[in-house]
Amino acid sequence: MSIPDFDAIVLGAGAAGLMCAATAGQRGRRVLLLDHADAVGKKILISGGGRCNFTNVNTAPDRFISANPHFAKSALARYTPADFIALVNAHGIAHHEKTLGQLFCDGSAKQIVAMLLDEAAKAGVDVRVGQPVGEVTHADSRFGVQFGDTRFTAPNLVIATGGPSIPKMGATGFAYDLARQFGLKVVEPRPALVPLTLGGDDVLFRELSGIAAPVAARAGKAVFREAALFTHRGLSGPAILQISSYWRHGEPVTIDFLPDMSSGWLLDAKRNRPRATVRAVLGAQLPDRLAETLAERLALPGELAAQTDRKLTDAEARLARWSFHPNGTEGFAKAEVTVGGISTAGLSSQSMVAKTIPGLYAVGEAVDVTGWLGGYNFQWAWASGHAAGQAI
Ligand code: FDA
Repeated sequence: MSIPDFDAIVLGAGAAGLMCAATAGQRGRRVLLLDHADAVGKKILISGGGRCNFTNVNTAPDRFISANPHFAKSALARYTPADFIALVNAHGIAHHEKTLGQLFCDGSAKQIVAMLLDEAAKAGVDVRVGQPVGEVTHADSRFGVQFGDTRFTAPNLVIATGGPSIPKMGATGFAYDLARQFGLKVVEPRPALVPLTLGGDDVLFRELSGIAAPVAARAGKAVFREAALFTHRGLSGPAILQISSYWRHGEPVTIDFLPDMSSGWLLDAKRNRPRATVRAVLGAQLPDRLAETLAERLALPGELAAQTDRKLTDAEARLARWSFHPNGTEGFAKAEVTVGGISTAGLSSQSMVAKTIPGLYAVGEAVDVTGWLGGYNFQWAWASGHAAGQAI
């Protein structure tokens, strides 16, 4: 059987690979899209609780983490949330904004995968799945890829195999191995958008498993005001997932349990409700068991009237910067994404092509660009995939 001639091989049929292949194909390129999993877009299918939070209307470069914070600007500007929404609308996929600019399908994430497959089919993309990807070579300006028993070649190769988060879904560090093979650097990958685990003195808080509260969580200079959730292993919820992408081992995470209270509120409470206890005033603002645990830790029993102003001021400060010392994260097994990846220093921000290897591209989560929680990571996958698809 003769092997067709391709202009590009895209490795990885996830969000970025599908977008890249369809874009290049619609420009007349003959594209082969390969994936070792038995189906395309598996992470899209489980995303957003099955409804796929496919973009965020507040997309801006400062919502992405990278060793080079400027790198994502070009691709994000040339393929915007409005572009993806137009595609979704053209396919008649009903959607809604949930919160904080996050857009979800009304129906199912399956619709997004079907849309991308339809776009790829219209573009004549040859999609093949369910075989291991073996040796990748580069000689005489052609890349060779072993896929099962077949060897394909093309002058362009796109690395779109994502990051190592959720290995049980087929995620691998293959992109990094490939990048290193071609002399590209890799920024150390770390699990991100991941729950944090607590030990030591903080372990008491694990007894609050299931309790959530709106907080402001901080690691270093990053602050997120969303809900935090106590779990039987530590901390989760959107505020914690967001902060986990910035957190480094050994650093504290501080939580403001009452971010809406103005300075001096506990002294005001003493004046207005002198017979109340700290436990009672906290209970008016926070879930009951959380209020109880915090009050116990503050160790100010008795009425507010009996407390010195100094002690109440200190307690207020502690509640605004409650210091947790996570002993780790739940790792790649639970991480929604990976921070780090193929260094942007070796890539063109316009086209995602490797500066030293003409014809080699890297897109999506494989690259050292990581978005906040809330549809930003898919927007990066669409934008970077589109940028490469336009250049091939
Ligand atoms: P992606 O991981 O999608 O695709 C990579 C592809 O490469 C896969 O199909 C894989 O099988 C294939 N592959 C890997 N190794 C290979 C190898 N060795 N050989 C061949 N193929 C290989 N983001 C967001 O914006 N909104 C959301 O709602 C969510 N929700 C969400 C939920 C959960 C549970 C997770 C784990 C993640 C999210 N995300 C998200 C993140 C989002 O899924 C992620 O950022 C994108 O899928 C990244 O797209 P890529 O195409 O780069 O990688």
